[in-house]
Amino acid sequence: MEKTFLMVKPDGVQRNLIGEIVTRFEKKGFHLAGAKLMQISTELAEQHYGEHKERPFFGELVDFITSGPVFAMVWEGENVIATARQMMGATNPKDAQPGTIRGDFGVIVGKNIIHGSDSPESAEREIGLFFKEEELVAYSKDI
Ligand code: CMP
Repeated sequence: MEKTFLMVKPDGVQRNLIGEIVTRFEKKGFHLAGAKLMQISTELAEQHYGEHKERPFFGELVDFITSGPVFAMVWEGENVIATARQMMGATNPKDAQPGTIRGDFGVIVGKNIIHGSDSPESAEREIGLFFKEEELVAYSKDI
């Protein structure tokens, strides 16, 4: 079954949005396969956001994501990578549609509430960075 990595960023945790966000993905029908509330180290932040290393906002991005606890999650389900991105909305909350997480709760691009993998390759890489195999559960098809 397809898996993706989603993370409630420090602004979302600080604003008590973990429950709201988890509820949206649960109600959609996806399964939570792993989760942890954690403080990201600078090293992990730089690895996670490695593709943005040359961007002018890279330092700001690393500072922000390490500024407070995040809620890291692995979700699974049919087409979960693309569907979760739709549910999150556009990266910049000013462009995100109402009804999406960023459209409903975000205002500025640097504090856009949630991160989600953008491809199967990113999902595999990001899940591997944040979770050990034994931290993920498997769901029974009969339930
Ligand atoms: P995310 O999906 O976590 O992936 C990269 C992040 O970079 C993105 O969400 C934004 O939060 C952040 N980002 C993108 N553009 C800017 C910008 N111009 N200034 C600050 N942060 C940005």
